[in-house]
Amino acid sequence: MENETTKDVTATLEEDYRGRTPRSQELFERARKTMPGGAKGAYFHQPYPLTMARGEGCYLHDVEGQRYVDFANHHTAQVLGHNNPAVIDAIQKQMTKGIALGAPVGIEAELCEEMCRRVASLDRIRFCNSGTEATLHAIRLARGVSGRVKIAKFEGGYHGSHDVVEISSAPSLDKVGSETAPNPVPSAGGMSPHAAEEVVVLPFNDEASVERLITQHRDELACIIFDTKAGIVPQRKEFVQFVGEIARKNDLLFILDEIVGFRVGTGGLQEYYGVTPDLTAYGKVVGGGFPVGAFGGRADIMDLLDGTRGSTGFFQSGTFSAHPITMAAGLATLKQLTPEAFDHLNGLGDRLTAGLNELFTRENIAAKAVNTGSVFSIHFTSEDLINYRSLARTDKAMAHRVFLALLAEGYFLSHGLSMNAISLPTETRHVDGLIEAVGRAIKSR
Ligand SMILES: Cc1ncc(COP(=O)(O)O)c(C=O)c1O
Repeated sequence: MENETTKDVTATLEEDYRGRTPRSQELFERARKTMPGGAKGAYFHQPYPLTMARGEGCYLHDVEGQRYVDFANHHTAQVLGHNNPAVIDAIQKQMTKGIALGAPVGIEAELCEEMCRRVASLDRIRFCNSGTEATLHAIRLARGVSGRVKIAKFEGGYHGSHDVVEISSAPSLDKVGSETAPNPVPSAGGMSPHAAEEVVVLPFNDEASVERLITQHRDELACIIFDTKAGIVPQRKEFVQFVGEIARKNDLLFILDEIVGFRVGTGGLQEYYGVTPDLTAYGKVVGGGFPVGAFGGRADIMDLLDGTRGSTGFFQSGTFSAHPITMAAGLATLKQLTPEAFDHLNGLGDRLTAGLNELFTRENIAAKAVNTGSVFSIHFTSEDLINYRSLARTDKAMAHRVFLALLAEGYFLSHGLSMNAISLPTETRHVDGLIEAVGRAIKSR
């Protein structure tokens, strides 16, 4: 949604950015010679991403030596911020004992116990190395148990990068078709052409259409997988509960994706919304900053992975699954996620979006700040945000300008301003500072 004036503003902001960050540009130009795009896909933004030198508490320092308050926190994973002393200590202790020993080391069971203690629906849990693996294995279990192949997922739901969940994770609006019966749209080249045939795409926040589609396809479906998009789309508790109930009513396994949402409280999103999934997928915060995924739930399903009593026909493993360093960091992280810690994190999230929405109203800016606990997003739109399509229509060019303006002020957010997160060392003054900086950014852009 750029016009000539906003294009000039963007160009000026990008020029300022280049002026402030020559070393990052140099490193980016070097990296792109051997890495497609210079880094993993999610890092890129125009004109190039910052290269960070280090993190400390709620701050990041780039290679130029400039300091930023970190409101992205590694795609929400760094709930304790950077270099948390207890996490560093736990990692160091484990490292001196051994990094990867080709056998259980004991900490993995402690972390599993901690997760099962926190989350009522978890009888058993298995660790892997990414959220992608977690949803892959949860879906595989659901298919195996039900003997059915298709899955139901929501339009715009992101559950990682294996084929079946990359259907309609971010479809282009000219391909999506009917609002009430969305087309299954592959999100990347090279995906199996069968993936689209294996997915029933559900419209978010639309009970009647979800009920109709599920009833129509129930005999072919193994499960419903659901990410509530907490902190991205305004949440309706009744809708989350409805999805759980519709799965139950139609004899489908209910898989909740808490890969982002788990940071909302001790028992995660399911406690927050009062739902009981059959299986839940985890990632991000449970690895304490290291690569992680986990899936768990009902004992009768999870025990299909228990080969100790003879073959069940199911199997899951991985060279670095339940890696000792990850387990040590994850356990040290969860131990610090006390009810008081969640109160602090969630209080700051509420304060931030209240302040931002007040600002947008006062300045008559078509924008909305959304949070669930400590995960938050800023969207430039006058529309009600109810589903993927309304998110896809928000003003991304404005978000880019505000993102760059905030960097200049020393605030690091995700580059689309969506799915940001607050870390525990963050204080009220950082949140209030961000609100004021957004105020200056929107006035001049
Ligand atoms: C809701 C959700 N599910 C799944 C994933 C995939 O996790 P990973 O990137 O660890 O594979 C992500 C990643 O951002 C996510 O946000």
